[in-house]
Amino acid sequence: MEILLDTANLEQIKKYTSLYDITGVTSNPTIISKENTDFWPLLLEIRKIIGEKQLHVQVTTDTWEEMLKEADAIRTKLGNETYVKIPTTEQGICAMKHLKAEGANVTATAIYTAQQAMMASSVGADYVAPYFNRMNNLNVDSKKVIREISQLFQIHNKETKILAASFKNTEQVMDSLMSGAQAVTVSVDLLTTMVENAIIDFAVNGFKKDWTKIYGEKKIYEL
Ligand code: G3P
Repeated sequence: MEILLDTANLEQIKKYTSLYDITGVTSNPTIISKENTDFWPLLLEIRKIIGEKQLHVQVTTDTWEEMLKEADAIRTKLGNETYVKIPTTEQGICAMKHLKAEGANVTATAIYTAQQAMMASSVGADYVAPYFNRMNNLNVDSKKVIREISQLFQIHNKETKILAASFKNTEQVMDSLMSGAQAVTVSVDLLTTMVENAIIDFAVNGFKKDWTKIYGEKKIYEL
C-alpha cells in the first residue's frame, strides 16, 4: 500500500515526508498554480526535499509531440526517474507509448473509466490515476470502476498499478484501497483527518490522567 502527498507546498512536503512513510509527491497544474511561484525552482526544491521518493509531474499540453517535449524537460531537470503524468486522451496514450519506449516512468491521469485504464495499461503506463470524487460528482460508482480496473489488470497480468486520486473525504480514500487501488494520493488536510479527532484525543487524555494519578509526571524511562 502506497500513500502519496497530493500537494506542491514545500512546508507540507517537508513535514509529512518526515512524519510518515510517504511514497512520493504528486502534482498537477492546479496544485502547482496554488503555490503561485516559479515552476522549476519549486519542483527542484520538492525533488531536493524528497530525494529518491517518487515525484509525479503533469504535462500541460494537448498534442503528443508537445507532451513529449515537456516530458523531456521534466526528466532532464528533475531526474529520469520522475513520473510523467499524462492525461489519458488519444494524444496522451500516444505520448505514453513513446515515453515507455524511452524507458520513462508514466502515470496515466484523469481516469474516469476502466476502458481508459485499459488503454493506458496497454501501452505500459506504470500507474493509472482514477479520480474518485470527480467520478462521484458525475454519479459514477467510483468503487465499481476501481474494482473493474483492478480485476482487469489481474486477469491480464498487467503490472500497472492503481493510484487513486481526487478525494474530498477519508471514506473515499479507504474505499479506493478496499476496492483494489495499490496507492492513493491524498491532500494534507485529509491525511491529518485520518489520525486527528476529538475521540482519539479523549482516549489518549484518559490514559494520561490515570497515569499521573499514580506516577505523577514521571516518564517510563524515569521510573
Ligand atoms: O491529482 C489529481 C487529483 O488529485 C485531482 O483532484 O481534488 O482536483 O478532484 P481534485
